[in-house]
Amino acid sequence: MQKTFYIHTYGCQMNVHESEQLAGMLSKRGFIPTDKPENCDIMVFNTCCVRETAETKILGNLGIAKKMKENKPDMIIAVCGCMAQKEGNAQMLKKRCPFINIIFGTHNLSQFGEYLDSFDNKRIIDIWDKEKEIVENIPVLRSSGVNGWVNIMYGCNNFCSYCIVPYVRGRERSRDPKQIISEVKNLVNEGYKEITLLGQNVNSYGAGSDTNFASLLSSLAEIDGKFRLKFMTSHPKDLSEDVVKVIASSEKLADYIHLPVQAGSDRILSMMNRKYTQKQYLDTIDMIRKYIPHVGLSSDIMVGFPTETEEDYLETEKVVKTVGFNNLFTFIYSRRSGTPADKMEQIPYAIKQARIKRLIDLQFEIGNKQASDCVGKTFEVICEEWKDGIAKGKSSCEKAITFESKDNVYGKFVNVEITKSKNNQLIGKIKE
Ligand code: 5AD
Ligand code: SF4
Repeated sequence: MQKTFYIHTYGCQMNVHESEQLAGMLSKRGFIPTDKPENCDIMVFNTCCVRETAETKILGNLGIAKKMKENKPDMIIAVCGCMAQKEGNAQMLKKRCPFINIIFGTHNLSQFGEYLDSFDNKRIIDIWDKEKEIVENIPVLRSSGVNGWVNIMYGCNNFCSYCIVPYVRGRERSRDPKQIISEVKNLVNEGYKEITLLGQNVNSYGAGSDTNFASLLSSLAEIDGKFRLKFMTSHPKDLSEDVVKVIASSEKLADYIHLPVQAGSDRILSMMNRKYTQKQYLDTIDMIRKYIPHVGLSSDIMVGFPTETEEDYLETEKVVKTVGFNNLFTFIYSRRSGTPADKMEQIPYAIKQARIKRLIDLQFEIGNKQASDCVGKTFEVICEEWKDGIAKGKSSCEKAITFESKDNVYGKFVNVEITKSKNNQLIGKIKE
């Protein structure tokens, strides 16, 4: 019988894609994926440590894995990714969780196959404290046949004062454009319809070399075939007019930008080390809308940053109302040891909770209004899911749309007219 694996993935899209690489390395060694974790031969935890809630969830699920292993003692348990990379955690896991067989970090993900090849029941704990050269040609077992993820750069140099990422992902380094172009070409040839370029700060792609993000996007937009290209994440201080012009001028680039503002108050933005003011952020939004009037915008916002007052919070609401985001990813600030914000004056949890609730309610209202304004409009949708006559997909401006289709339209571009909206959801019908 073929041996099986199960991967738990936590955190961002970068982790989702890196789990596809872990799956690729497992599949190359003859393992097949299973959806029954209790029976698997190898269980991998690809972890996140951006907020405490992620770490708590991982530790809880490790407890469940321990129980599963009691019934299947030869199960190999591996823990990797950001939480494993964070200083002190590998030692903590080594001591607290003797049932974990392999622990490795973010910088040595590509070594996973070798750890498996050399595994002889002795624990392997290998954390590299610094990033090395980018490793190319890691096998990938993709989780979707429509959405293809492509890493274009790794690491972050921004050191926002609340964020652990620069400490666990190392300094910025970019992949060779030739490698990226060839990977995207292959994906398009294999039938992938939506390609997402990934990096912590894609706008600084190519820094220190003779290329940049705008020129990478232009080269990718020239690839033959019908597909849609998008990217995440952009830092507002680095999003150039050139990048926006490329998006505006190419059919292939999605009319969508994810631009995390994090907070609205200039005082908080400065304490966060974001290097822009509210006005500069809003000017960037105006610049984007000048070139792409129908652009879809989304953002990450954090409430409860140290010392945040009611006035500061209201500045965040002001930005949300002024911009009118399609979608918001909202977070309660979480203390991360080793970051500057951890040493700042904290505010009570109850206040953070109350503010996030207000923010979510506000965005719900805005989203609802935007959704009802879409009724009667037609969008070109890439179908990402089809089951029993019900299809789901997204428009170029990142609107999620559900529609009926007798035919299986998975992986197809379809024109969908919006017939109704309900609680932020868009429902439509195929326009022949
Ligand atoms: N607490 C809460 N949210 C955080 N993020 C990053 N660090 C923290 C933290 N310490 C959020 C930011 C970022 C997103 C990926 O996670 O909003 O954009
Ligand atoms: Fe974290 Fe800021 Fe880097 Fe984003 S840009 S990964 S929030 S340090």
